[in-house]
Amino acid sequence: MKLAITGATSGIGAETVKALASKFETVFLIVRNEKKADSFINELAKEHSRTKFVIVPCDLSDLSSVAKAANKILTETDSLYALVNNAGGIFPDGKLTGDGFEQTFQINHLGHFLLTLKLMPLLEKTEDARIINVSSEAHRAANPKLDDSKHVGNYKSFPAYANAKLYNILFTKSLAEKYGSKRIASYCLHPGVVKTNFGGDFSGFFKALIKLAQPFMITAEKGAKTTIYLATTPNDSLENGGYFAKSRRAKPSSTANSKSLREKLWVLSQDLTKEYL
Ligand SMILES: NC(=O)c1ccc[n+]([C@@H]2O[C@H](COP(=O)([O-])OP(=O)(O)OC[C@H]3O[C@@H](n4cnc5c(N)ncnc54)[C@H](OP(=O)(O)O)[C@@H]3O)[C@@H](O)[C@H]2O)c1
Repeated sequence: MKLAITGATSGIGAETVKALASKFETVFLIVRNEKKADSFINELAKEHSRTKFVIVPCDLSDLSSVAKAANKILTETDSLYALVNNAGGIFPDGKLTGDGFEQTFQINHLGHFLLTLKLMPLLEKTEDARIINVSSEAHRAANPKLDDSKHVGNYKSFPAYANAKLYNILFTKSLAEKYGSKRIASYCLHPGVVKTNFGGDFSGFFKALIKLAQPFMITAEKGAKTTIYLATTPNDSLENGGYFAKSRRAKPSSTANSKSLREKLWVLSQDLTKEYL
């Protein structure tokens, strides 16, 4: 069985890899920092064969890099049991990526949309395959603005993050609808409030706030539990398209259940990535 995971070099992603490595024959570490991945593999190699881990360079803020990463995986394997779209976070206000999109939108949602669609042929060929999207309870604060089709409006960090995490849930539900009949399941989750490098790009007030909250946060090892649960439980025992927290089915916001919104997001995301699909 093969696993592919984004954001494998830090926090929840790294703990997910540590916990799942023994269950998988190959783990594709989809990462933006190859050096960091290399030293992570050195750590993992104390317990596992190095050859189990394949570094796949991928900057989610660059769609050409995402397409290249997917193509590398497509040439290296003919099956994929689980794709974990874990990378993401909250970033300073209003910065645009080289592709011209607000970075929180692209890193948390659009890059993963492209990666997932490109890897679909592998998931389609694999028994009990699943896609796991790491969302957040922050989605409840979303105020989606899909009419700003390029997502270049002047977004503040937190609203942009809340919207992106809502998109993770909408995307999951669309995937379940569109690929459920092909026996690919899709799940999303809230990992908890977790002590990781989350918010690490900030300085000043926001950084101080995160530091103050850290004693109340759970460890990254605990934060990885729901992802691990979804990666290891047979699809027959899980609800396709479901939102999970604490390894149980949870109820997302009513906006997250909007069919018209998820259709709109799907069409928009397809349009924004069409050059690479
Ligand atoms: N921590 C929480 O309380 C919390 C709560 C709810 C949801 N979440 C979600 O959990 C997920 C994991 O976050 P975390 O808490 O583990 O934070 P983290 O420690 O900051 O990990 C984020 C990961 O995303 C990667 N990443 C960031 N920008 C990227 C880019 N442009 N291209 C490729 N990879 C990129 C980072 O790469 P590097 O290793 O190179 O930095 C890192 O591995 C995120 O989706 C986050 O929104 C976290």
